[in-house]
Amino acid sequence: MQAFIQLPNTTDRVDLYAALLPQTTALLQGERDPIANMANMTAVLRAAFGWHWVGFYRVVGDELVLGPFQGPVACTRIAFGKGVCGTAWKEKRTIVVEDVDAFPGHIACSSLSRSEIVVPVFNSEGHVAAVLDVDSDQLAEFGPNDAQALEALCELLRPII
Ligand code: SME
Repeated sequence: MQAFIQLPNTTDRVDLYAALLPQTTALLQGERDPIANMANMTAVLRAAFGWHWVGFYRVVGDELVLGPFQGPVACTRIAFGKGVCGTAWKEKRTIVVEDVDAFPGHIACSSLSRSEIVVPVFNSEGHVAAVLDVDSDQLAEFGPNDAQALEALCELLRPII
């Protein structure tokens, strides 16, 4: 396990993701506890991008339950199909929300959140086992590059979650 992350001296998000993927792979290497690895992934993403909130919700029964996160306190439970997180779980796909006020049923954990991306985390059986939720205090923070890179990072959890 490599217990540190070196960020390149750039604000180019594609370059940052390119540097983060192998380093996060190394960081998770050899650790099979999903919560430990989710915790480190939230720390990596918050350190790299400074987003308002970065965290996981785990599927527990018929709900999502708050998991490791970085940022302000958040709601602890989200029902299947509710909010952006519950919708990403139900539809088994990444959801990018440019303006949270325009997303019907958005769950506002923080009044500072303006845009959001939620990525499902699949287990080895192809079921959604968690979602990664990232909130920004800026409108339209996330796009296809973020979706692709965050999906690749979430894939690292597939064998162990
Ligand atoms: N906005 C999310 C709820 C979780 S918080 O943003 C941390 C949603 O609508 O599912």
